[in-house]
Amino acid sequence: MSKTITFHDYQPQIQSLKSAVIAGLSKADKAIPPKYFYDQRGSELFSEICEQPEYYPPTVERAILRNNSEEISELTGTDRLVLEPGAGSATKIRLLLEPLQPSAYLPMDISCEYLRYSAAEIVDDFPWLPVHAVCVDFTHSIPLPEAAPKRHKLAFFPGSSIGNFTPKEACHFLDMVRETIKPGGMLLIGVDTKKSTDILNAAYNDAAGMTAAFNLNLLHRIRDEAEADCDPENFEHQAFYNQERGRIEMHLISRCRQTLHLNGNEFLLEKGESIHTENSYKYSPEEFIALASQAGLHLVKHWLDEEALFAVYLLKS
Ligand SMILES: C[S@@+](CC[C@H](N)C(=O)[O-])C[C@H]1O[C@@H](n2cnc3c(N)ncnc32)[C@H](O)[C@@H]1O
Repeated sequence: MSKTITFHDYQPQIQSLKSAVIAGLSKADKAIPPKYFYDQRGSELFSEICEQPEYYPPTVERAILRNNSEEISELTGTDRLVLEPGAGSATKIRLLLEPLQPSAYLPMDISCEYLRYSAAEIVDDFPWLPVHAVCVDFTHSIPLPEAAPKRHKLAFFPGSSIGNFTPKEACHFLDMVRETIKPGGMLLIGVDTKKSTDILNAAYNDAAGMTAAFNLNLLHRIRDEAEADCDPENFEHQAFYNQERGRIEMHLISRCRQTLHLNGNEFLLEKGESIHTENSYKYSPEEFIALASQAGLHLVKHWLDEEALFAVYLLKS
C-alpha cells in the first residue's frame, strides 16, 4: 500500500513570540495567549500531562470515542475529509480512523515539528490513509490545501481546546469551522463539563508537577527565544477553578519584585503579581449546545461518560 503524506506550511505565528510577550506584559493585567505554550518541549509536556491520573479528560474522552465509534461512523458516514485543528499527538483520531474510513486526514497545528512527527506516525500506522499535515495558527484561518480531496468534511476538535477561548471567541471559532466545512459538514467536538471544584483543581495541579512544568516552560521560551532576562525560578505555577466565570485559570506568579528587560522595554512585576497564561472554560451540555447553535451548528447527538465528567458532541451545519 502506498503511504502518502504532504506537508503544507502556512507560516503561523504572524505575531512573533517576542511581540506577543511585549504586548502581553504591557497590559494592566498581564496575559500571554496559550498558543505560545506549544514549542516542541511544550507539546511533549502536554503529552505528559495527558498521562497524569488527576488529568481525567483524555482518558474519559478516549473511552467515549472508543465506546461509540461505530455509532459515530453510522451518523457521519464514511469517505469524509477529516480535519483536526490542534491535532497535537493525533492519538484520539486513531480510535476513529478505521470506522470512519476518511478519504484523507488533515492534522493541523501551530507546533510544526511536532506535527511532522505525529503525522508521520499516522501514515506509518494507517498506510491506506492520505495525510495532509497543515502547519497553521487556527485562530487566524483553517485552510484546506487544494490538493486535498473534495469531499464532505468532518472537523474533529477534541481535548476541550474550545475551552481555551472565551465564550465569544469560541462562538467566532465555531462559526469559522462551520464556514470551512460547509456544505454538508459535521463537527465532532470534545468539551469538558462543569463539575466539583476539587476534581477540577486537582486536574490542573497534578502531583508529578507536569502542568506546572508546562506552564513554566513558557518562561523558558521567553528567556531563550524572545531573549528576555527572565529567570523561570522566580515564578511559580498557579491554577484554580473560578466558579463565577466557569473556568480554570492558569497563572505564572512572580515570587519576588523583579524587572524583566525585553527588546529595550522594561516590565516591573511585583511580588505575587500574575501573568495570566490560560483559561479553560467548562460547559454544561445545555450551555454548549446553545453556544454551538449560536454559531449555526446544531446537535445531532452527544455522549457523556457515566459520571458526566466529559462530553463529545456531533454537530452539523
Ligand atoms: C490541548 S492540546 C490538544 C491536543 C489534541 N487535540 C488532544 O486532544 O489531545 C492543543 C493543541 O492545539 C495546538 N494549538 C494551540 N493553539 C493553536 C493555534 N492557535 N493554532 C494551531 N494549533 C494550536 C497545540 O500545539 C496543541 O497541539
